[in-house]
Amino acid sequence: MLNIQIEKTNQPKQKPEPEELVFGAVFTDHMFVMDYEISQGWHNPKIVPYQPITLEPSAMVFHYGQEMFEGMKAYKGVDGRVLLFRPEKNIERTNKTNDRICIPQIDEDDMLQAIKALVDIDKDWIPNAGGTALYIRPFIIATDPYLGVRPSNTYKFMVIACPVGAYYKEGINPVKIWVETEYVRAVPGGVGEAKTGGNYAASIKAQMKAKERGYTQVLWLDGVERKYVEEVGTMNVFFKINGEIITPELTGSILAGVTRNSVIELLNAWGERVVERRITIDEIYEAHKAGILEEVFGTGTAAVISPVGELNYRGDMITINNNEIGALSQKIYDTITGLQTGAIKDEFGWTVEV
Ligand code: COI
Repeated sequence: MLNIQIEKTNQPKQKPEPEELVFGAVFTDHMFVMDYEISQGWHNPKIVPYQPITLEPSAMVFHYGQEMFEGMKAYKGVDGRVLLFRPEKNIERTNKTNDRICIPQIDEDDMLQAIKALVDIDKDWIPNAGGTALYIRPFIIATDPYLGVRPSNTYKFMVIACPVGAYYKEGINPVKIWVETEYVRAVPGGVGEAKTGGNYAASIKAQMKAKERGYTQVLWLDGVERKYVEEVGTMNVFFKINGEIITPELTGSILAGVTRNSVIELLNAWGERVVERRITIDEIYEAHKAGILEEVFGTGTAAVISPVGELNYRGDMITINNNEIGALSQKIYDTITGLQTGAIKDEFGWTVEV
């Protein structure tokens, strides 16, 4: 159990109006900070006013990118309770990422306590209009002032939070996706399944290319054969083909999304046919040609459920479900958001009260 020192702000900021909310631009009044060094482990947990931090220019995170982050949300429940959605999954993934990039493990209960404490102190920042939430960003950076390549001996764990609306300007309307063929995101044995900033830095070039062409995101293919579908920029991806729902299996280069896992469990509970397997981009195009590609949608914490209305692979553009929100995507969106806000009774035990 952490003994968190709390310093409250005496200059609370103006909160944005719900209709002004964009993703990740305005931060709440406070942040959680905790330090690590070898002799003391994780120590000095505190909540302080949101503020800049000071680091040496030689801090290792700036040079070799030893950092991890998570993304989760808190919701103002319909009955006024503040709810987190499956936080234990993000915490478990934190330690998996930490293991992959040699950051010390963090105690799961301590991490949950830190998140709950920050959300509680800033709970007035949680918006409650439909499609809004408080996005929570826990992250860890390597802080040794050192330029040799090795794991840092010191770290900072922080949690910041921001009220958010839809991640995409399209909201729940279908997005257009560019199938990337020049660059790859991850390879087997790499860090693709770790939630580390470098994965996202490596994705920006392709994302910019897609944007210039009028597409919202890229769909990544596997880094070896360049034919198996992996994931979309900030989401996992699902295809409904001839009544069966397929999502790429986790091969080590795909992020194990919490929303992805929740959607699979939900579909199973509904008795839908859902399979995790490798699927090629050609199979998807063939299904489209045969008229059996019914729906495509992405899943993610930030994006929630995002239907895909258009795919472009090597200049071959296909439209899915008439560029409309599919019945399945809508049902999943309504159920997931209903569970998250407590509007739907949580039979799964996924929500955790702050
Ligand atoms: C999330 O969905 O929480 C993510 O981490 C995606 C983020 C890069 C916007």
